[in-house]
Amino acid sequence: MKIKKNIPLIDQHDKNYMYGEKFGGNFIPETLKKPIDDLTKLFTRLRKDKKFLKERDHYFKTYVGAPTPFIKLENLTDQLGGAQIYAKVVSEANGGAHKIYNATVHCLIAKRAGKKFVVGDTGAGYAGKMLSMAAKKFGLKCKIFMGSKDIKRQQPNVEAMKRNGAKIVPVTTGSQTLVDAVSECMRYWVSNCDTTHMCVGSTVGPNIFIKICAWSTAQISRELIVQVKEEFGRIPKKMKLLNCVGGGSSAMGFWNEFMDYDKKQVEFIGIEAGGPKKKKLHAAPLTNGSKIGILHGSAAYCVQNSEGQIKETESISAGLDYPSVSALHCFLKDAKRARYTSATDEEALEAFQLVSKLENISPSLEPSHAFAEAIKIAPKLKSSDVIIVNSCGDSLKDKDIIKQKLGEYIR
Ligand SMILES: Cc1ncc(COP(=O)(O)O)c(C=O)c1O
Repeated sequence: MKIKKNIPLIDQHDKNYMYGEKFGGNFIPETLKKPIDDLTKLFTRLRKDKKFLKERDHYFKTYVGAPTPFIKLENLTDQLGGAQIYAKVVSEANGGAHKIYNATVHCLIAKRAGKKFVVGDTGAGYAGKMLSMAAKKFGLKCKIFMGSKDIKRQQPNVEAMKRNGAKIVPVTTGSQTLVDAVSECMRYWVSNCDTTHMCVGSTVGPNIFIKICAWSTAQISRELIVQVKEEFGRIPKKMKLLNCVGGGSSAMGFWNEFMDYDKKQVEFIGIEAGGPKKKKLHAAPLTNGSKIGILHGSAAYCVQNSEGQIKETESISAGLDYPSVSALHCFLKDAKRARYTSATDEEALEAFQLVSKLENISPSLEPSHAFAEAIKIAPKLKSSDVIIVNSCGDSLKDKDIIKQKLGEYIR
């Protein structure tokens, strides 16, 4: 399996929308064929439409707040020794995470499609919060599906969605987390697609949703490549881009513009949720050699039992607590362009503590998984090596979990 150069990764599929002949596709019910075809046609046209691109860039700048900062973590670098550690502080984007890029683009598309309603899924609550924000901004009515377990553990984002006027639909089936929220959201869309646009909150689902999401978050690496060249005068000889991976949208956005660099120069490291140290449960299909399964209309590595049923996952981080992953990451893994590993709940919490103690940023539990890997590898590297971590979410949404686990929450 090989990644082609000079072709956007999202377009490297065959006529059945499969990447590397194994991942992705459109495994959808007949009723969704037309709405998916319509959306595919519309997006194919819009991504080449100069007026639409101008509009997107305008809102990325004036509404999302792009570009987000790129900073050196000097205290962390000094403390660990070894590689220089930097962060792309995507949590400074409006709303506090990368999900705002996808939500903004989806609302712009919904308006072009003449839809008045948007519906979306959420786990950590950021995808829902951002969709409700963008819907409010662009005058659309918004409904968010969220697992009951996540509603309890991500209250600050739930409150934000309510303030933005969104209707939250609690999902009480299955594990009551993101996987069930996506399923219920898709089920709802099947019967309401005439009036309603659906936003999938990550690079998962039928192909068009993977494409729109990765195309939207690619803004992160468009900014980063400029910022890295400004800082170093060129792309450093050895640079590692570390990103947590749930569905995989922030990692895709963080890596996109660097895809054609040799992996010896620009290495991609994806960090999945290893779950609690003392339990076997995890949400890390790429790290743990899970088999390919079909979930939410797409073929990808999935945490599953011997009968192919989705298996329970567990992670301290609601945003990473998903049994599958983007077909794009499966493709990058099998093509050996990216390396995937995991961090446990405990390692993520320790990384959160260390980073927020030493630096003026406060990563949420998702990017804390990526910081845990940075903390592991930095001391073994040379001072000319550069590590950049995507700090893609703010810890405020996790304040209750952190307080419960550590006894206090200090930002
Ligand atoms: C802050 C943050 N980071 C990461 C993720 C994981 O999602 P993805 O892998 O799509 O970026 C989430 C998901 O909710 C999130 O809220």
